[in-house]
Amino acid sequence: MTTEPILTTGADWWRNAVVYQIYPRSFADSNGDGIGDLVGIAEKVPYLKDLGVDAVWLSPFYPSALADGGYDVDDYRNVDPKIGTLAEFDAMVAAFHDTGIKVIVDIVPNHSSDRHEWFQAALASPKGSPERDRYIFRDGAGPNQGQPPSDWKATFGGPAWEPVGDGQFYFHLFAPEQPDWNWDNREVRDYFLQTLRFWADRGVDGFRVDVAHGLAKDFSADPLPTAAELREIEGGPNHPYYDRDEVDDIYAEWREVFNSYDPPRSAVAEVWVDVPERRARYATQASLGQAFNFDLLRANFRAPDFKKIVAKNLESAGETNSSSTWVLSNHDVVRHVSRYSLPLTAPDSPFIGEGPTWDRDRAWLISGGTEPIADRELGHRRAKAATGFILALPGSAYIYQGEELGLPEVVEIPDADRQDPAFYRSAGYEVGRDGCRVPIPWTPDDPWFGFSGSASQQAFASKPHLPQPEWFADYAVSAAESDPDSTLAFYRKAIALRKALAKASPQILEWLDSPADTLHFSRGPWHCFTNFGEVGVPLPSGGALLLASGDLKDNTVPGATTVWFEERQA
Ligand code: NOJ
Repeated sequence: MTTEPILTTGADWWRNAVVYQIYPRSFADSNGDGIGDLVGIAEKVPYLKDLGVDAVWLSPFYPSALADGGYDVDDYRNVDPKIGTLAEFDAMVAAFHDTGIKVIVDIVPNHSSDRHEWFQAALASPKGSPERDRYIFRDGAGPNQGQPPSDWKATFGGPAWEPVGDGQFYFHLFAPEQPDWNWDNREVRDYFLQTLRFWADRGVDGFRVDVAHGLAKDFSADPLPTAAELREIEGGPNHPYYDRDEVDDIYAEWREVFNSYDPPRSAVAEVWVDVPERRARYATQASLGQAFNFDLLRANFRAPDFKKIVAKNLESAGETNSSSTWVLSNHDVVRHVSRYSLPLTAPDSPFIGEGPTWDRDRAWLISGGTEPIADRELGHRRAKAATGFILALPGSAYIYQGEELGLPEVVEIPDADRQDPAFYRSAGYEVGRDGCRVPIPWTPDDPWFGFSGSASQQAFASKPHLPQPEWFADYAVSAAESDPDSTLAFYRKAIALRKALAKASPQILEWLDSPADTLHFSRGPWHCFTNFGEVGVPLPSGGALLLASGDLKDNTVPGATTVWFEERQA
């Protein structure tokens, strides 16, 4: 990394971008059917322009039976009729581009839906046919081939193999409705290369690549390792399906497609790979170019943990000539206001999100009685401070819809309304991810908080596909817009300042000494200081205050607060 400012224009626009993630079915519903749609998104372009984001990333909007919130794709080159048409997609992209906002779409290459025409053809074709070779079919084990080929579990629970009635089973890493593609098959590879071109030709600027570490598979071992043995194998060359070396060849081909456009299309890999050197492979400029690190999604709000994560990821991004990614919330995790409402876990457990602790955290949120009760006020202060912190860092910041309103997780969704397969396939043991996917409140008083239907339609609009709690009124956009102290006002100010400072901000940051429970770094002419503790600390001496996530009194930075200030003039 150099001391040069981060490039933010031309082919390098993604390196320092603020990217806003839209979960289309829950953002804005223009026709009042209870499901967000593309026209609704296009209508909100002015809102996103005012927020100041550089790009939007749309979670899947493709035709889908919604077995997994749209990550079960029936047709990769179309729009779900429930939420729009290709013409409406083009109009939406044009509306974003007119205001200078780039558009990133989600590509789901690990699996299709079981309704995809190629999977239907595979089911209708015999064992050993070219149609079956596009997916991963294996003979069953045991008498009459009635047992699955291995005892592996799927990510959302239940077996990872589904019988098809003729002695064969197909493999699905996620729900049974999401059969995995066979990436050794040339037709599958070409199909995705053409799909990337299809969207790039429509003006899409970049791609978010779902389960990017899962595509390459080697199931040739006989017998396959058991689930217990699998747990002992780290992702990498020896694992049958996680992070195998062969993914590099797949993305080298994708890179050729990206680079055939001017400017080259960008990509960011969704990779849950913990070893930084392995994760870095996805971020090289010969591969996808950038990789998510989800470390902050799992980190306690604690100064040493944040510092370690930032230092490690900046180093890794520098080594691959990429830029780092910072994420506090997305559609798969408990919203960060709510995570930060929970007590910190023990200092020797660096992550709050590993294994069953996720479920325990969700349980805390829900029970609020038998386990430590969430402190929402503290959660809000920490969340704003964390946002101020990540927006000061070099690299891209990914914001998830609603976090700019300070929206907490919705925990009171009745079981009958839940949609997440993780909930159903774990028999309710995992609450699932619906709580962060509840439709956005745009106004405090209208039916469905202004989510469904235009103003004239709202009285007749259908109820949103996930129920909104009454307290959503407190977080509505229109109210936040007229409150200078709202979380929204803070996001707008921070993003605008970040942009104004970008040209002068070096790609590196310099850590400065600071008291316990605090972090202090400079970015050339300006500084960021975060108090992670609960006790106020003196504001370091510097020039003018630029931004504060909380109220400073007597030059004291209160607990859970971030400030930006100018370098002191000599
Ligand atoms: C990651 C996506 O973010 C998540 O929502 C989805 O369930 C899985 N991949 C499977 O596609």
